[in-house]
Amino acid sequence: MKNNGHPKDRNGAMEKAWSGSPELRGVGKNLTRFEFPKDSRRLGGDFTVEQNVKTLLRFFLFERNMLRAIAGWSMGTPEFEVKVEYGRHIYWHAEAGMKIRTRLTELRTAEETTDKFSDDGIAEFFHELIYSESPAHFVAALYGVILPAMRLAYAEHSAHTDQVADAPTVRMLRQILVDYDEMIAWGKGAIEAYIRGGYDESSLHKWQYHIEKLLRSAGGATNSPTSARGGGRGVEAPRPAKLRSEGKPPFERSFIATRDPRFGTFEHTYEYQEADKTEGSVQAKESPEYESEFDKTRLNLVRSQRDEIDAIETFCNVLYEIRDVPFGFDFDLARIIWDETRHTELGHKAMEALGHDPYDLLNRLLGIKVRTKMPALYSLAEINLFGEANIVQEVLRYSREAYEKGDDLTGRMFDYVNADERTHLTKGVHWLKQIFGTDSVQEIEQKTKKVAVERLLELGIINHDVALTISHRELAKIIGE
Ligand SMILES: [Fe+2]
Ligand SMILES: [Fe+2]
Repeated sequence: MKNNGHPKDRNGAMEKAWSGSPELRGVGKNLTRFEFPKDSRRLGGDFTVEQNVKTLLRFFLFERNMLRAIAGWSMGTPEFEVKVEYGRHIYWHAEAGMKIRTRLTELRTAEETTDKFSDDGIAEFFHELIYSESPAHFVAALYGVILPAMRLAYAEHSAHTDQVADAPTVRMLRQILVDYDEMIAWGKGAIEAYIRGGYDESSLHKWQYHIEKLLRSAGGATNSPTSARGGGRGVEAPRPAKLRSEGKPPFERSFIATRDPRFGTFEHTYEYQEADKTEGSVQAKESPEYESEFDKTRLNLVRSQRDEIDAIETFCNVLYEIRDVPFGFDFDLARIIWDETRHTELGHKAMEALGHDPYDLLNRLLGIKVRTKMPALYSLAEINLFGEANIVQEVLRYSREAYEKGDDLTGRMFDYVNADERTHLTKGVHWLKQIFGTDSVQEIEQKTKKVAVERLLELGIINHDVALTISHRELAKIIGE
């Protein structure tokens, strides 16, 4: 055969006979001299594609329900460390859910099918969980019962499915399990802290036992009769005689943004300096003094980052309240929640780096007080199109100034915050257009401004004259992110 002229094929090797030619063996020594590591994976698994899909759909539904349940408890959990950890773990669950959902698309199951999958037993189970008596009871049940049951179910499923044919599932579950180890370890410490801090241990254990019993009777994570240890049905799974949530309407999240007693708070103004002045004698242990305008701007921005606790809460409320959306919505919101959690942590740590005790500086509640009563979609539009659109520019301006002044620590911190907020704007606008059913951002802004202004009037933060003339920027400043 004639060389067809491939530029790399100078000697025409592509067209020569390969079998029997010495070139077929490549270069180097003969293969039989080597003992490579053996692949010990067994061929054959316990599940058909269909059975696998059934289990993965359940796993997905548990993940989605867990993240929504945590979001539903964000406002009502005053403890700072717990609120922050929730913000992180919501995203861990969202990532797990997204991985499972993607794997399902490879197993002949469309995303829409996964998103619409429901199960009465699982719904009842999470209705009961979210009606936990206190944040401590919720943590004890979620981290002490559900997460360990999920961990076991994931480990069992990944061990029993075909190690070769279903290797993507095996790999995915192993990766999810890394987060589970971390979450369960944190939960153990948190439950111990709640007990040491005064919660009745036997009451928490009783609730854990109750939740465990209900989980088993609902079929556990896998709904497999062979998997009693994974929270599955087992031989016998009696249902608890009485449920706390029986006959109750869907759980309502707290309408107060709860704060633990280490925080002093204010809500009548946006301005930190004004709050420090008027509230100083009552609550604030510190009324900061500033050496320069830059110093003042820096501490104000650092405080507003720490006070994005209310951004965690706002996005949690939106995530909890907006249903019937694709899981992509939950995923994007969960990621924003984790980012806002990092912003809060950055603010907290920067306060320390600047020589303050973070709890000595008053916590601003105005933004969340305005948003808590707004319908979820307006609350999302307000924080996104007003709050985040404003802060994205403000932190960029500050970051440049800080770099110029040689303050790399806060300069870099706000550089990253700006990068985060840019992505929030993009994601937020994408979903707002879908939920409002319009391509006009201006239209969403106008509607939202009306709702926000009404709320500010209701709270007495602005008067009717101001309400008539208030600009987009002023409103963004008052409510913030
Ligand atoms: Fe933020
Ligand atoms: Fe943000």
